[in-house]
Amino acid sequence: MSTVSSAQSAKLWLEQSRAWIEPELVAALNELERSPARLVEAMRYATLDGGKRLRPAIARLACHWCGGSDADARGAALAVEFIHAYSLIHDDLPCMDDDAWRRGRPSCHVAFGEALALLAADALQTLAFDHLVRTPRGSAGPMVSALAEAAGASGMVGGQVLDMALTGVSRTRPLQLEEVSAMHALKTGALIAAAARLGALAADAPAERCARIWSWGQCLGRLFQAIDDVLDVTADRSSLGKTPGKDQAQLKPTLVAALGLDAARAYAQAQAERARALARDIGGEQAATALGFADLLLDRQS
Ligand code: IPE
Ligand code: IPE
Ligand code: MG
Ligand code: MG
Ligand code: MG
Repeated sequence: MSTVSSAQSAKLWLEQSRAWIEPELVAALNELERSPARLVEAMRYATLDGGKRLRPAIARLACHWCGGSDADARGAALAVEFIHAYSLIHDDLPCMDDDAWRRGRPSCHVAFGEALALLAADALQTLAFDHLVRTPRGSAGPMVSALAEAAGASGMVGGQVLDMALTGVSRTRPLQLEEVSAMHALKTGALIAAAARLGALAADAPAERCARIWSWGQCLGRLFQAIDDVLDVTADRSSLGKTPGKDQAQLKPTLVAALGLDAARAYAQAQAERARALARDIGGEQAATALGFADLLLDRQS
């Protein structure tokens, strides 16, 4: 399989997955008709219109890779996107990255105020688990544990704490690659990897296959955050949809701060190569698309 055709097939998969998950997100939020209207408005604002929907696309791909269907993948795909949307609200808050711009418009707390934004994020987190357990084929218990681990203290939240702890450190000493990459693996990698793992679990795949697809997702996660750090330096505000240059201004512990731009790109390439090798190893019908995801993430501009 050629790299070009697998990159095209990954691009197509992402587009189709976006078209598939968008109305599902709308429908899931429409179910909240009896909740306070302003809260639901803030949840809609933070979730709809603008996300790349990378995590649902990965969950759907992993599910199909293991013989599952769109219906099997639905709960996992919604769950990872709701957790992601909540994490972005918190990430932008003044007490965290203090970022007023997200997805090409004012951040949730700028549009709705800090208190409501915080609560919308809380409600998105519980909504994620509500949809995750509506799994027609997977076992809900192990799926809940997998998402809780990836999103919580041993995953995304833990990584955000490490990110905060390392902020400003470069003023006094050089950042080490190991500490930045361990923080990346948690704050971003854990949820992207969980998207892959949950997709496989939703198809009720055997443990060994779930583990291999999870490893593939872990490489994609590290690759994804490496490029996020690179784009903060190289991209402009309109293509990025968020404020560029903020990592350096806030002395954030990025890969670029630790290694410089060229070595950060080389690190991303090495992760992409590992992801490709794992996809080749797993093989099967979706392997070409899975292979192309590495190229898609490496070349992304937004
Ligand atoms: C941005 O994630 C936050 C990080 C984890 C780096 P995405 O770039 O996937 O954000 P959207 O959903 O496409 O806006
Ligand atoms: C965000 O990392 C990670 C999570 C939201 C968990 P960043 O702080 O680098 O993300 P952006 O650049 O603001 O999207
Ligand atoms: Mg952050
Ligand atoms: Mg941020
Ligand atoms: Mg960033």
